[in-house]
Amino acid sequence: MLSRFVTAAALAAAASFAARGALAQDTIKIGVVQSLTGQLTAVGKQVMGGVRLYQQQHGSTVAGKKIELIVKDDTTVPDVAKRLAQELIVNDKVNILTTGITPATFAIAPLATQAKVPAVIMVSGTSSATERSPYMVRTSFTLGQQSGIIGEWAAKNGSKKVVIVQSDWAPGAEATQVFTDSFTKAGGQIAETLKVPLANPDFSPFLQRARDANPDTLFVFIPAGQAGLFVKQFIDRGLDKAGIKLIGPGDVTDDDDLPNMGDGIIGTVTAGHYSAYHQSAANKIYVEAFKKLNGMRPNFISLGGYDGMHLIYEALKKTNGNPDGDGLLAAMKGMKWESPRGPIAIDADTRDIIQNVYVRKVEKRDGELYNVEFATFEAVKDPIKAAKK
Ligand code: PHB
Repeated sequence: MLSRFVTAAALAAAASFAARGALAQDTIKIGVVQSLTGQLTAVGKQVMGGVRLYQQQHGSTVAGKKIELIVKDDTTVPDVAKRLAQELIVNDKVNILTTGITPATFAIAPLATQAKVPAVIMVSGTSSATERSPYMVRTSFTLGQQSGIIGEWAAKNGSKKVVIVQSDWAPGAEATQVFTDSFTKAGGQIAETLKVPLANPDFSPFLQRARDANPDTLFVFIPAGQAGLFVKQFIDRGLDKAGIKLIGPGDVTDDDDLPNMGDGIIGTVTAGHYSAYHQSAANKIYVEAFKKLNGMRPNFISLGGYDGMHLIYEALKKTNGNPDGDGLLAAMKGMKWESPRGPIAIDADTRDIIQNVYVRKVEKRDGELYNVEFATFEAVKDPIKAAKK
């Protein structure tokens, strides 16, 4: 109890420091808490790749202020994320935080509120993340944005009976919920929903059960970094040969793993907000520069980091470098820009991202596997929040 009181007092003191110190200060400190080791290291690497590229392209000075990034590794453990965010607020007196995966984002939310520090969600795809604190703004995506669209597409394109394989944590539950809703409304049937542990998954037994249920289609949500293993086991178990279509949000044909998946993945249709093959001048520059800096293909996760930095830089320009939390938040709300993924905006009411969702098919281009976009749903909002209105 006492320690909780001390923490709250320290956070409140940090908040008043941020307000008082605002104009005098020459350096803007950004506390970056991401999963650089542990279960979701692949996610942390991509998001930091985007952050680093943005700084390389846009420098470390904005509105006359020096931008200092303080990067911390939450080790994919929410309690660690919470402790690090607390230290960043109280000891380092950061002006802005950025958060990563869903459990870490949930853990940090109350601290952002107490300290009145804006927190940019660069990874979490769970709808409610932005509702956990009025200081949170999302530049990533939600699973619902993609899962409803692929549900409708599948029902219209011959899928009648689906087995769902879902990574068993919050974003997976939302992918299942929104997909099930849209697919069954369009006349489809869900034969079974199978939940796979997030940590060290072995998909084989689940894939065997899925095959035994004799579906025409498998809907899958697994997080970035697990797609390579999933697709290998899907093919090893012979599900592709059995004629079972694979669909899902974009995570399963993640651009990071896709080049090594083999030709068995060709033809897979997913709904996603980003493809390294997205045809725009901005994306050509992005992919080339990202590969050069980070030594890998950028995937959908990387954009949350890159665009998150853009949001912070542009908000600081609008406030003339004043880091007051409420001022920055007001500057972020309603902002619109052209991302390498396409046009995006921050919803002024919900602080959530509005973006295009593309239906894509895996094809070979110039000898490499890519998600080739063939239909666009424009300016998609998070459907779970939209349904609450
Ligand atoms: C999340 O943290 O919500 C998350 C992470 C990785 C994904 C999808 C969602 O691929």
